[in-house]
Amino acid sequence: MQFDKDKKILFSAAQPSGIPTIGNYLGAIKNWVDLQDEYNCIYSIADLHCLTVKREPKDLRRQSLDLLALYIACGVNPEKCVLFMQSHVPAHAELTWVLNTITYPGEMTRMTQFKDKSLRHADNVNMGLMDYPVLMAADILLYQTDIVPIGSDQKQHLEIARDIANRFNNRYSPTFVVPDGYIPKVGARIMSLQDPLHKMSKSDDNENAFISLEDDRDTIIRKFKRAVTDSDNTVAVGEDKPGITNLINIYSIFANKTIEETQREFDGKGYGEFKVAVGEVVADKIVPIKEEKERILKDKAYLDDIMIKGAETANYLANKTIAKVYRKVGLYTPDKK
Ligand code: TRP
Repeated sequence: MQFDKDKKILFSAAQPSGIPTIGNYLGAIKNWVDLQDEYNCIYSIADLHCLTVKREPKDLRRQSLDLLALYIACGVNPEKCVLFMQSHVPAHAELTWVLNTITYPGEMTRMTQFKDKSLRHADNVNMGLMDYPVLMAADILLYQTDIVPIGSDQKQHLEIARDIANRFNNRYSPTFVVPDGYIPKVGARIMSLQDPLHKMSKSDDNENAFISLEDDRDTIIRKFKRAVTDSDNTVAVGEDKPGITNLINIYSIFANKTIEETQREFDGKGYGEFKVAVGEVVADKIVPIKEEKERILKDKAYLDDIMIKGAETANYLANKTIAKVYRKVGLYTPDKK
């Protein structure tokens, strides 16, 4: 793995929490793949972040591996980018500790996500939950990252990472690149199939509301057939037709067509026929990914090898930064023999 000096450094991470939906696929996973050629990409499975909410240890272990396999199945190429587990690079925890000493409790308790999660997990408001943004800042700053693609829910966390970087640079001396965030454009927001006014979510109680990357062809087609639409029966977008508009968006993205092309293609055809077509085009894309992921998961030696190689490169890069940080804050380093 060689970085190209002319390209910027891009860092992103994802938490292994549940099976992604087609919304997550289009909004996040696909971007990781699309950005690989343009940047020096460093991608991490944020398993340490996952410890901030209660989870069965065996589920966390399985889901971490699963997400790694999924990213590879989707086209993230370990030859082109650094792909690793956050917990395999001790510098993430080490830098978090140092950054904690220049971060204030008030800044953390103000974070929208901390407030939301404190309400949702009221029985487990732990220090890690509060410190989550500092660990995220450490993730980013360790690699002298120029650019961080993020979902809009992570904007506040990126802002605090920039504040912390500036604060450290001002207090000691320039050490960290101050990263820019960017919110990738997704063709459309993917909405729930049962309540098209709300975003599709993997934690929806109604399984028919989302298409997960684990669904098989029959399930996908059945869920689309049951999707909530209006009674108009004309395949055309409209503000008063959120259900069919959502299906048209999904079809257009997966079939690589414009909205107009899709409307023309289904001119004079009813919702029944269109829903099956949406199911088929989505299944054509998703099912091979699922099969490839399952194939990769069976090859544990291959996955371990990728993880070890990824961690090796990540450790090399991260340790350069942590050595600099330790020196700047005044931690004594013995001379090497
Ligand atoms: N908190 C991010 C999320 O839940 C995941 C994450 C962890 C991350 N560390 C990061 C994203 C660093 C970007 C950069 O989506």
